[in-house]
Amino acid sequence: MIELQRIEKTFHTADRAPFQALRGIDLQVQTGEIFGIIGRSGAGKSTLIRTLNLLERPSSGRVIIEGQDITALDGAALRAARQRIGMVFQHFNLLNARTVYENVRFPLRLTGQYSAAQMKERVDEVLALVGLTEHRDKYPRQLSGGQQQRVGIARALANRPRLLLCDEATSALDPETTRSILQLLARINQEIGLTIVLITHGMDVIRAICHRVAILERGSIVEQGEVTQIFRDPQHEVTRALLDPLGIHFGAPTNEVLA
Ligand SMILES: Nc1ncnc2c1ncn2[C@@H]1O[C@H](COP(=O)(O)OP(=O)(O)OP(=O)(O)O)[C@@H](O)[C@H]1O
Ligand SMILES: [Mg+2]
Repeated sequence: MIELQRIEKTFHTADRAPFQALRGIDLQVQTGEIFGIIGRSGAGKSTLIRTLNLLERPSSGRVIIEGQDITALDGAALRAARQRIGMVFQHFNLLNARTVYENVRFPLRLTGQYSAAQMKERVDEVLALVGLTEHRDKYPRQLSGGQQQRVGIARALANRPRLLLCDEATSALDPETTRSILQLLARINQEIGLTIVLITHGMDVIRAICHRVAILERGSIVEQGEVTQIFRDPQHEVTRALLDPLGIHFGAPTNEVLA
């Protein structure tokens, strides 16, 4: 289980007043589930997901991953814990001067723990898992967006993570490619039981693959539960707005929205 306990995050910048991005977040993600986080732009989604691997250190509160309080770690122990958490980004963040194969091998090299033969075996394995074996010697610019995101996913899986974090992993992709990437994530979740926490702006993404969802608004979770339940009976106005972004069912007629 992954647990966030009373997470607060305040950003301090030289030229502005302190900004509280997360306010007392309590969240539990069960091992093996796909957990979605949704909310308006600026709600704190990226900040929240980044606290899960301490890319963003919370101002207070604890992050507990399978019984281990990672907020208490630093140095080598923190690096080791982080290696067990993969992350996938909206803009892929690939190394453009490296081939597909080298991109996926990169996190394995960083650990300094594997022989060349072990790395080759593992890279071949994850490339097969994401369906990129035949593209292994290409460079990122020679691939479509969907293929580049498969590289991003393969790279995130290379170290056999216990947890995969996806920050808008499909936001830069067209609907059909989005579907194929979501199918890939769902398959990985089922086949290797990988726990996935994903952020999205799209309720359709939540409906397609998430088991449970939390709605974030101004740094607080305003509603959470089973996806089927939330879709059937949304309680919070923000949830309703996310379910019906153009206000067609609850609000103004469409021509007013477009006017
Ligand atoms: N390093 C930072 N320094 C100061 N403020 C920050 C920093 N990072 C984020 N913020 C602020 O924290 C708030 C939440 O940002 P965050 O990126 O988590 O939102 P988000 O929900 O991911 O938004 P989006 O959907 O647009 O990606 C925003 O108001 C943002 O300006
Ligand atoms: Mg974000």
